[in-house]
Amino acid sequence: MPHRIVTLPGDGIGPEIMAPALQVLGAVGDFEFEEHTFGGASIDAHGVALTDETLASCRGADAVLLAAVGGPRWDTTDPHAPRPEQGLLGLRKGLELFANLRPVKPLPALYDASPLRRELIEGTDLLVVRELTGGIYFGEKTRTATSASDVCAYTAEEVERIARVAFRSARSRVSSVDKANVLETSRLWREVVTDLHSREFPHILLEHVLVDNAAMQLVSAPRHFDAILTENMFGDILSDEAAMLTGSIGMLPSASLGGDGPGLFEPVHGSAPDIAGQGIANPLAMFLSAALMLRHGLRLESEAAAVESAVQRALEEGLRTPDLGGGAGTDEATRAVLAHLE
Ligand code: NAD
Ligand code: IPM
Ligand code: MN
Repeated sequence: MPHRIVTLPGDGIGPEIMAPALQVLGAVGDFEFEEHTFGGASIDAHGVALTDETLASCRGADAVLLAAVGGPRWDTTDPHAPRPEQGLLGLRKGLELFANLRPVKPLPALYDASPLRRELIEGTDLLVVRELTGGIYFGEKTRTATSASDVCAYTAEEVERIARVAFRSARSRVSSVDKANVLETSRLWREVVTDLHSREFPHILLEHVLVDNAAMQLVSAPRHFDAILTENMFGDILSDEAAMLTGSIGMLPSASLGGDGPGLFEPVHGSAPDIAGQGIANPLAMFLSAALMLRHGLRLESEAAAVESAVQRALEEGLRTPDLGGGAGTDEATRAVLAHLE
């Protein structure tokens, strides 16, 4: 039986990078794809960003592959209007995907494509382990005409389960990033992480880094990091920053895991409305997310490695989309990668 994958192209460049990703997957295996509208496209079709039917299909799939959602068409400050991003948050919560893994390993072929100096990024190989279903994203929200609030809340249990993922993923060091000098949630975070470390992972080095300092060190000494363990919003911000180590936000994939059901695999970037419809989106983060799906979602390690090595070889041969300083369009990038899978 072929693996059943629910695909959610979403909005903006989403459909432009999803179609090539399915070609890449088709080159390494036999999969059954079931596509659903999601995000803004689902708001237009059904009035909500994630329908019950789509969520149910995702729950029943072997893995969920998502491109990106959002765009100016649905941007509003009206608290009652539906938003594409609600679909994404609802899906992560609905599948209980509390562990978001964002590997940041700049490819040698792209060392000179980063705005940072080669000698600074060389050898960087870190993993952002972002808590994905708690914190300020999911706390109570209030809004009147002249005031608003977003509650940031964490339980010890939520902190411990994501910390365990980080300790298990680390080679030798976990850098736990918080704002314990100001936030109560961060002080609980630090306590729980320290306690788990001494009980179960004493052989792993643990350091606590304040988030502002972590943001600085990420670009001044990225090689220092192994696993970066952090809460939902800090992880969101730090991973876009870390993407620039790889040359472009168009390079960074992610895997969201932790529930009993399927994992969710998506690039870190958004729907890039500024370049949507031009055929110039970099599809590589999407391809690398498909590779993470093969590895973590479907346990197809050699197929995952084949996709990653095809991406790497295409870049070594000079493939560069505009975000990487080149002139290749999405189609050309796709052909360059497919050439190494035939
Ligand atoms: P973005 O990541 O969409 O774009 C930021 C910049 O990076 C833009 O200049 C864009 O052109 C460029 N970029 C992003 N991906 C690229 C790619 N694959 N190839 C080439 N260039 C690329 O962030 P934004 O502009 O802040 O957000 C746009 C919309 O996307 C918003 O509605 C936001 O909520 C949404 N968003 C969705 C996701 C997701 O679906 N997972 C993630 C982030 C943002
Ligand atoms: C991401 C995105 C999402 C997030 C948005 C679109 C809700 O920025 O996946 O990084 O903040 O988690
Ligand atoms: Mn983000």
